[in-house]
Amino acid sequence: MINFKGKNIISMHDLSKQEIIHILKTAECMEKKKYYDLLKGKILATLFFEPSTRTKLSFHSAMKQLGGSTIGFSDAQTSSTTKGESLHDTIRMVEQYCDAIVMRHPLDGSARLAAEIASVPVINGGDGKNQHPTQTLLDLYTIKKTQGKISKLHVAILGDLKYGRTAHSLATALSLFDCKLSFISPPSLRMPRQICDELTEKNIHFTEHESVEKIIPDIDILYSTRIQRERFPDPREYEMVKNAFILDTPLFKNAKPTLKLLHPLPRVNEITTNMDATPYASYFEQAGNGIPIRKAVLALVLGAKL
Ligand code: CP
Repeated sequence: MINFKGKNIISMHDLSKQEIIHILKTAECMEKKKYYDLLKGKILATLFFEPSTRTKLSFHSAMKQLGGSTIGFSDAQTSSTTKGESLHDTIRMVEQYCDAIVMRHPLDGSARLAAEIASVPVINGGDGKNQHPTQTLLDLYTIKKTQGKISKLHVAILGDLKYGRTAHSLATALSLFDCKLSFISPPSLRMPRQICDELTEKNIHFTEHESVEKIIPDIDILYSTRIQRERFPDPREYEMVKNAFILDTPLFKNAKPTLKLLHPLPRVNEITTNMDATPYASYFEQAGNGIPIRKAVLALVLGAKL
């Protein structure tokens, strides 16, 4: 019996395959039925210490669609953090005002810290370059919807694999689904050693590449990511890799007709707008899937009965 009531959603490392499938099935229910009053009287606090469009707005929308309400801030400059209040004290306050917290923060591990302090469930909306679990859940949901399955696919993750938290979360999750994994990045932005070692320990086969052209005919899911300018300690290093991958229509001439191109968004220049009208482009649909997934996560951690 899977019971998420009161659970924190911090890292894909914490979720079993069975639990992931349960969340995806709950998201399917959310698409089939409206559940207008499911979270009536519940309050979600959204604490965004870093910018966000999709994560913040889709959590707000999901909560409101289920009859709940939201409080929070989207600019830490308007919170008492600017007066010197610690994350510890902020969480000790906010937990008294709400039933669950979604937090995005620039520091790796901050979501785990918040969860250790809070008496209400904490959902990680992205902590530094570490993890972004609800993004990965909606990525998996999109893969399942577009390919009919997750297992046994060839998934290629491309771009900034060093600093991209969505890439890290997704690689961890896919290790449970018997997928073929390819990591495509400039040499300076390779998938971190820790994640590669975890995959090796689990006997998950993966390959690393510096370009996509040779392997594109075999790929089922091409997951492109933005070069994370804000995480580079030296802006000159960003300048050297910022145009490493610009995906455009000619690249796809040898692709499978069923290939789907995903991206957590926002994009900068890594996918041209020419791609938007192709049958490969699935990134806007992917962002839309943030609603059923975040409804499911909220309903589950708040112990709602469907
Ligand atoms: N994918 C994602 O996390 O987007 P935002 O930064 O806009 O929330």
